[in-house]
Amino acid sequence: MAGGQGTRLGHKGPKGTFDIGLDSHKSLFELLSDSLKEQGKKYGVVIPWFIMTSKENNKDTIEFFDKHRFFGYEKDKNIFFFEQGELPMVDTEGKILIGEDGLIKEAADGHGGIYEALVKNGMTKKMRELGVEWLFIGGVDNCLVKMVDPILMGIAIQKQVSAAGKSVVKANPQEKVGVFCRKNGRPSVVEYTEIPKDMAQAIDERGELIYGESHILCNLFNIDAVERMGSKPLPYHSAFKKATYIDKNGKTVVPDGPNAYKFEAFLFDAFGELDDMAILRVKREEEFAPVKNASGVDSPETARELYKKFYNV
Ligand code: UD1
Repeated sequence: MAGGQGTRLGHKGPKGTFDIGLDSHKSLFELLSDSLKEQGKKYGVVIPWFIMTSKENNKDTIEFFDKHRFFGYEKDKNIFFFEQGELPMVDTEGKILIGEDGLIKEAADGHGGIYEALVKNGMTKKMRELGVEWLFIGGVDNCLVKMVDPILMGIAIQKQVSAAGKSVVKANPQEKVGVFCRKNGRPSVVEYTEIPKDMAQAIDERGELIYGESHILCNLFNIDAVERMGSKPLPYHSAFKKATYIDKNGKTVVPDGPNAYKFEAFLFDAFGELDDMAILRVKREEEFAPVKNASGVDSPETARELYKKFYNV
């Protein structure tokens, strides 16, 4: 999933093109391609790579890959690009905004749009042609993401479930991560913006957080499950954002602060469609080094340190 821009990082362009400051100055895309190629070598195969972009960054993403000769991959043979959908933005009165191009102002529909986008863009069909049975879906912003993991797949197969997710122990009740849970008996994730404080802080008899298995956006799905999830609409979560628009007098308005709602579907809201899901707890320092903020927690600095330690570079 690479539909995001590196706005929070102060980076202009697709988030995957961001350089986290290693000596090699490799972008997130290149770091991910390195790990995929290394695993491919180990198993003597080329692991197909499907990259979800957004309308906003699709062209720049493909140009970037083209410039880097697709990091050794071959476009439309073993690397594929597909766009996620968009939804209209509305102002505080519920009115749809008009963008600078004179058309309805739209924004990416959130990473929950991935299932529908995979099906609509013919990607699951392509996967079937390639003999793909399992898809690992992860975020481009985690430079330690382990896309190929026989243990995760083995657990899903052994437990006879159509999906498996990875978790790390939540660092503290306030950490900005969603946590795995069950909703009405079905697998789910409750997002950090939506979990009540008492639930976030609740502990069991061993003193561990009850809702302490963090969802790190590293999930594996059987292709049948993806197609099923792609055929059903997901609920939308709203976010208040800054959006430039054209007012009724035809003037461009650049707001100082948030002025409009954006609607996003979350990938894990589809987990309720699954009968069950296996969760594998992994070590944070081995698999979770997200780059989200320009400084402080989950920043290029923290991700770089984790990457260097893990790969010994
Ligand atoms: C997300 C998760 C959270 C998890 C955390 C782990 C959500 C709502 N929350 O939070 O549960 O614990 O990551 O790092 O997802 N993306 C798209 N298209 C979109 C939106 C996002 O491709 O429309 C991609 C981004 O490029 C990125 C990933 O999804 O690779 C994560 O998105 P982001 O919005 O940064 O999620 P977080 O709020 O950090």
